[in-house]
Amino acid sequence: MLGNFSYCNATKLYFGDDSLKYLNDELPKYGKNVQLIYGGGSIKKNGIYDAVVSILRANDKNIIEDAGVMPNPTVEKLNEGVRIARENNVDLLLAVGGGSCCDYAKAVSVSVYCEDDPWQKYFIRFEEPNCKIIPVGCVLTMAGTGSEMNGGAVITNHRENKKIGHVFGEEVMPKFSILNPKFTYSLPKRQMVAGIYDIFNHICEQYFSGTDDNTSDYLAEALMKSVIHSSLIAIENQEDYEARSNIMWSATWALNTLIAKGKTTDWMVHMLGQAVGAYTDATHGMTLSAVSLPYYRYIMPYGLAKFKRFAIQVWGVEAKGKSDEQVAAEGLTAMENWMKKIGLAMNISELGATADMIEGIADKTFILTGGYKILTKDEVINILKQSL
Ligand code: NZQ
Ligand code: ZN
Repeated sequence: MLGNFSYCNATKLYFGDDSLKYLNDELPKYGKNVQLIYGGGSIKKNGIYDAVVSILRANDKNIIEDAGVMPNPTVEKLNEGVRIARENNVDLLLAVGGGSCCDYAKAVSVSVYCEDDPWQKYFIRFEEPNCKIIPVGCVLTMAGTGSEMNGGAVITNHRENKKIGHVFGEEVMPKFSILNPKFTYSLPKRQMVAGIYDIFNHICEQYFSGTDDNTSDYLAEALMKSVIHSSLIAIENQEDYEARSNIMWSATWALNTLIAKGKTTDWMVHMLGQAVGAYTDATHGMTLSAVSLPYYRYIMPYGLAKFKRFAIQVWGVEAKGKSDEQVAAEGLTAMENWMKKIGLAMNISELGATADMIEGIADKTFILTGGYKILTKDEVINILKQSL
């Protein structure tokens, strides 16, 4: 049974291989000073930078460069972005990149007029913004996080070994996002599959909670099937437009708040993965894949009916003549085979985690209560040990 909720998604999307031209429709809505946010330079190699800059110039904007947003953006970079925005009286933050650039733009957007320390206020005390927020727009170049249509921003503080996400409300969501699947063609294969698993796991995190009959779960199953199907095509041909566009669209719907409606949601794989990320700075999607199977196998008995449903509906496991445990376990084996086939990291050692880090990683793992099993610290440690 669905509970009571309100639903609003504030982001306007432009999707397709001609979608960048709609930047011309959006730019006139904002002032002259545009902070152009991007990462380590991929957009200069694949031509997206030139295309965006020429549209900004045609619209008579002042371009304020803000390059070098790293994967897993840091608190130091956030402070730099805030300084750039303040010095230039910025009117629009335009992120051109993956989730890291989009997340970073949102974190800057709530921090420029904030009198407090943003890390402390938003990522330690989880307070909401009470200052002016600079609008954000995104041109997405990597499918995975869903950051293009949500209020999430994840920031890493290496000094404190913390990687923390704050999910802001609709006033922080991008005002618009441009999704051109062809922009994702130049992604290295490892990044592409990391993004694919990020999408898949976002869906799992919402699906593996609750025991009621909920439309969100049917939507989740359909999205998972689409991601699995398209991933197998994309690993053979990274320029298959149909597959890359389905992956991009699924990513957006996997985490734009829709399929969380009526769900308590789990998010423990993300809590474990983020803590691993804080210690290793590894690629986000890979930190998730590396801890997933030990976690799901451990909680399976506590959510058996849903794991059985997952096996049958998502993986096509034949249930006849088998116990519920057998069916559920076969579903996770099918998932494991798919993960290996597309080339995901299957343990945290290959991401640089070592046995002596386990205690620290466990300490930095937030324990959430929405899933089938509320973990104890010892259980977190055991799952991390099995993930090594
Ligand atoms: O920096 P550049 O040169 O752009 O290279 C990037 C980066 O090295 C590269 N890349 C992106 N698009 C490319 C490309 N290379 C070639 N061609 C392209 N078209 O890919 C690398 C990874 O990019 P990044 O933006 O870091 O990846 P992703 O989209 O996975 O974002 C990861 C960040 O998002 C956070 C993660 O924790 C992590 O910090 N998340 C945000 C969420 C949200 N807002 O809701 C939820 C997620 O669970 C996640 O936690
Ligand atoms: Zn994620």
